[in-house]
Amino acid sequence: MTTNNIHWHQALINRSDRETRNGHRSVILWLTGLSGAGKSTLAHAIERRLFEINCATFVFDGDNVRHGLCADLGFTQQDRTENIRRVGEMAKLFTEAGIIAITAFISPIIADRERVRALVAPEDFIEVYCRCTIEVCEKRDVKGLYAKARQGLIPEFTGISSPYEPPQNPELSIDTGTLSLDECVEQVLAYLNLKQIIN
Ligand code: ADX
Repeated sequence: MTTNNIHWHQALINRSDRETRNGHRSVILWLTGLSGAGKSTLAHAIERRLFEINCATFVFDGDNVRHGLCADLGFTQQDRTENIRRVGEMAKLFTEAGIIAITAFISPIIADRERVRALVAPEDFIEVYCRCTIEVCEKRDVKGLYAKARQGLIPEFTGISSPYEPPQNPELSIDTGTLSLDECVEQVLAYLNLKQIIN
């Protein structure tokens, strides 16, 4: 394929070689939900469990990625869309690398998430809705951001002055507002087993 003098270089080792060596399929576990819903906590807990059974994994976390790859982006609708686009492309590369990519971004807009879904094969994108009411998130207020947002100190704060569009048909919907962390992890692991992504 040639586009604007840029040529695709075919790798000598393909994804299926890597998956075979790793002993599991590579997928994108796309966690979405409000700030404070528990996405990062769940992502890292899933990763720990998968690591223990020798899976190759990596967690992409909104706050962390915004320190580097996306340090130039803010929280306007346009910037969030670009944030999710970059992370989606990155997660896709990780699936090519045979890795289970676990992403923890608010990713508030359905169209942005669907654009990532469309980047990969249908079975490679698992949308995990971390369902938690804004009341619970605000009560937890782990980072103190809801209080600041209510005071008008953070513009365009998701759930308060910027929209969150819940998934309409996610592969998984996890009640992170009410279940224990262990129960949430179990539900994700059960799904991965059911779909024979891991054994
Ligand atoms: S996303 O909307 O582009 O997907 P992302 O997940 O990368 O957001 O970053 C969200 C994190 O940034 C939140 O958990 C919070 O710590 C911080 N943050 C700072 N400003 C905002 C804001 N205006 N809205 C939401 N989160 C914010």
